[in-house]
Amino acid sequence: MQQVLPQADAVERAGDGLADLYRARKPWHTLPGPLYHDPGAFEADLDVIFHKTWIQVALVADVPEAGDVYAFDIGRTPVLIVRTDDDEVLAFHNVCRHRAARLVPNGRSIVGKLVCPYHQWAYELTGALIDAPHMGQDLDKSLYHLEPVAIRVIGGLIYMCLSDNPPDDIDAFAQILTPRIAPYDLARAKIAFECDLIEEGNWKLTMENNRECYHCGANHPELALSFFAVDFGVDPDMLAPHERRELEAHNARCATQKGEWEACGLVSSALESDVTAATNYRTERLMIAGNGESQTLDSRAAVRVPLSPTVAHGTGDTHLWGPTSWNHLMGDHAVVFNAFPIAPNRTLVRTKWLVNEAAVEGVDYDRDNLIAVWMETNRQDAALVAMAQAGVQSAGYRPGPYSRFTEKTLDDFISWYVERMRVHGVW
Ligand code: FES
Ligand code: FE
Repeated sequence: MQQVLPQADAVERAGDGLADLYRARKPWHTLPGPLYHDPGAFEADLDVIFHKTWIQVALVADVPEAGDVYAFDIGRTPVLIVRTDDDEVLAFHNVCRHRAARLVPNGRSIVGKLVCPYHQWAYELTGALIDAPHMGQDLDKSLYHLEPVAIRVIGGLIYMCLSDNPPDDIDAFAQILTPRIAPYDLARAKIAFECDLIEEGNWKLTMENNRECYHCGANHPELALSFFAVDFGVDPDMLAPHERRELEAHNARCATQKGEWEACGLVSSALESDVTAATNYRTERLMIAGNGESQTLDSRAAVRVPLSPTVAHGTGDTHLWGPTSWNHLMGDHAVVFNAFPIAPNRTLVRTKWLVNEAAVEGVDYDRDNLIAVWMETNRQDAALVAMAQAGVQSAGYRPGPYSRFTEKTLDDFISWYVERMRVHGVW
């Protein structure tokens, strides 16, 4: 996947007009329209969110063996992740130090060395330049090491920050996240299926859409089978007396279940970062509705073998959101979503389904059954995001209010975003 984006300097192009839009953002409201489609706003987002913030971008399962390389673009910045012969997972800019060619194509490859296709400069998997033909014996190769990129592996998830000075609260985040996801042993899981989908919308609309389930009942009949709608917020004044009693009973069941999970070492409580924190997240383990096991069409496990020996079918769904990612970790499989900005009004959503490395397709799981719910849900979400994008670009758009019952997570996310832009001087 090659992405070509217009060149511009984010903050210079932003100017006062853009700054005024951030100042004009009303709490508990969607953003002023241009912040969802203006090229200058997009540049500012690339600069601040995608270059200076820790974002979840990949999995160690993307590079399971020494010599495996996984390459992709963050905005217009090509990067690669490699597993070395010493079993280290490293990341570099996917840019040759000679005359800047892309070293490996996007996607996955298996290499002994990283050899540039242009003039055959060759690099060790550690990034060290080892061969530069016809450059003279006096070339100091140590000056042309591949440019490293900061990554942090947390429980098999790879977080990346393109800045030379990444926010240091990643350590605190790792401490919080590690015990929550360690039981899934994602570092030893394998990718059973992967799918790229282009959403015709700004990346923030992609993220707003997946951070709420206000829309799920009316739009996601397949996903709704495994979700308790009330878990995502409800206006109590809209409930009939018997519905209130049902809600109270459900909440009591959830509290009991979470207590049992916690007693088994499966952290379940809801936890989210402060809107002023550099590294943004929200996580919680929720019960699965219906048969209670998995996000499938019958809400039963899609994979016979649990993801790891320390989880089991029926241990709920650990939801994990970052500013550009969302994840569902269940007893039998996990689904991991990463959003990559392509243009002000286009976003790549890359979805990966993870299963136990020992699970065999056709024996332990049926692939179509494994992916059915989220393939359909992703298509539905893409249509919703495109619809909202058309709206925010229209002359009739005015920022709309978030529900304090069902969209608090959106106000948190957008407030965090606006604060990041302020901290980095966009306004
Ligand atoms: Fe890579 Fe010349 S650009 S070897
Ligand atoms: Fe959705």
